[in-house]
Amino acid sequence: MSVLAEKVITRDWFKGSNHTLEGYKKNGGYEQLKRALTMQPAAITDEVKKSGLRGRGGAGFPTGLKWSFVPSLEKNTKPRYLAINADESEPGTAKDRFILENDPHLLLEGIGIACYALGAHACYIYARGEFKGPSAVLDAAIDEANKAGIFGKKLMGTDYELNVFQVRGAGAYICGEETALLESLEGKKGWPRLKPPFPAVVGLFGCPTVVNNVETIASLPRIFEKGADWFMKLGTGKSGGTRLVTLSGSVNRPGTYEVGMDTSLRELIYDPAYGQGMPEGVNVKAVIPGGSSAPVLTAEEMDVKLEFDAFKPLQSMAGSGGVMVMDDKTCIVRSLWRVARFYAEESCGQCTPCREGQPWMARIIRKIEEGRGEMSDLDTLMNVASAIAPWPPIGLGNTICALGDAGALPVQSFVTKFRKDFEEHIRLKRCPHGDQPWGHFGDFK
Ligand SMILES: Cc1cc2nc3c(=O)[nH]c(=O)nc-3n(C[C@H](O)[C@H](O)[C@H](O)COP(=O)(O)O)c2cc1C
Ligand code: SF4
Repeated sequence: MSVLAEKVITRDWFKGSNHTLEGYKKNGGYEQLKRALTMQPAAITDEVKKSGLRGRGGAGFPTGLKWSFVPSLEKNTKPRYLAINADESEPGTAKDRFILENDPHLLLEGIGIACYALGAHACYIYARGEFKGPSAVLDAAIDEANKAGIFGKKLMGTDYELNVFQVRGAGAYICGEETALLESLEGKKGWPRLKPPFPAVVGLFGCPTVVNNVETIASLPRIFEKGADWFMKLGTGKSGGTRLVTLSGSVNRPGTYEVGMDTSLRELIYDPAYGQGMPEGVNVKAVIPGGSSAPVLTAEEMDVKLEFDAFKPLQSMAGSGGVMVMDDKTCIVRSLWRVARFYAEESCGQCTPCREGQPWMARIIRKIEEGRGEMSDLDTLMNVASAIAPWPPIGLGNTICALGDAGALPVQSFVTKFRKDFEEHIRLKRCPHGDQPWGHFGDFK
């Protein structure tokens, strides 16, 4: 079994009053920001590159590399911004909210380090609208940091000005997509932008902007405390550090866990420290490994490590770390219908394949689930999905943003890997699982 060598993000959670400035400082807080402010900004970016830190928002993009796309002040004199993605709406994902609640100053210290490295004097934290509790804790922490002179005109007493603001979303999943997030921050409808230009060059208010996930930025203080080499070694040599994963569905102990990148899905599900196995009488049938948009895996594919590149040969992705386990009593068709309904509902409507294709796929899946399906529906499903994004995935769909792919890939992977389940529904003209309640997927009708 894989044992986590050292905790990174959750190390100080529940240690005294760690969520307050006083408690955080007792645990050594803000010392790394102090130290970073004595470094050259470019040296900070180099450290982050060396650490192997990769974005925890879903794509696993190398963080230091992303920062290096921001043009120098000589080339572009516009102000630059940092935007923190705390939208966390990917089904099956619950990790960033716990950072906001349990260690808001860890995120704020990371923000100080990142803004100084980027030359940003303002940071906007875009928090999911429903995060009432976590947002209140974060607001209190920002207030404490402002009053203590950590932020404001003089960042930690230096001549560098940094102001940090929290902005609350209004419940749209699409606003987690980085350019929709920027539109929303600008007070507009959250419609994704065409890329290029990328936010690092033309972002918030037309200025260079880095968008990073909460967990990504909260990793920075530890990288500076223990060193980039330490962080890289904790990981796999390709991806540094640890990961927060959310385990849900048919397991004995669902929850949010910090795990090593070398932990496999099987270990996550069965290890006594994590999921503690399946409930009695059932076995794993399918696992969604990285939030509902990640292509589904079969029970035979559970030995994959929870590291970003490891999923590629399985045509899936580590995504946002939302691991959802389905047992052999779960109806695969009904589960996919649940997922498809979500993406149909959340499509912003800008691109035809996504706007029309997502609800079309949801309708076909419903038809199959209700016993009205035909074998040709399976080809139609694959065709509609492939008009949105190619299968097998190549990381580039046919739409403005990746929500298109997010809805197409589950359909393609479920139909490819569990075709027999779909065919059985069609042949029997009913769901073989009967009229069971929604179980692990909630009370959805
Ligand atoms: C539809 C959609 C929703 C997304 N939702 C989130 C989200 O809730 N949180 C997040 O960090 N990234 C989300 N992303 C990814 C962001 O666009 C972006 O890649 C990420 O915030 C970058 O941060 P990172 O490099 O630190 O991972 C979403 C992407 C898409 C296409
Ligand atoms: S892919 Fe879907 S969500 Fe993304 S911009 Fe197009 S219509 Fe909107």
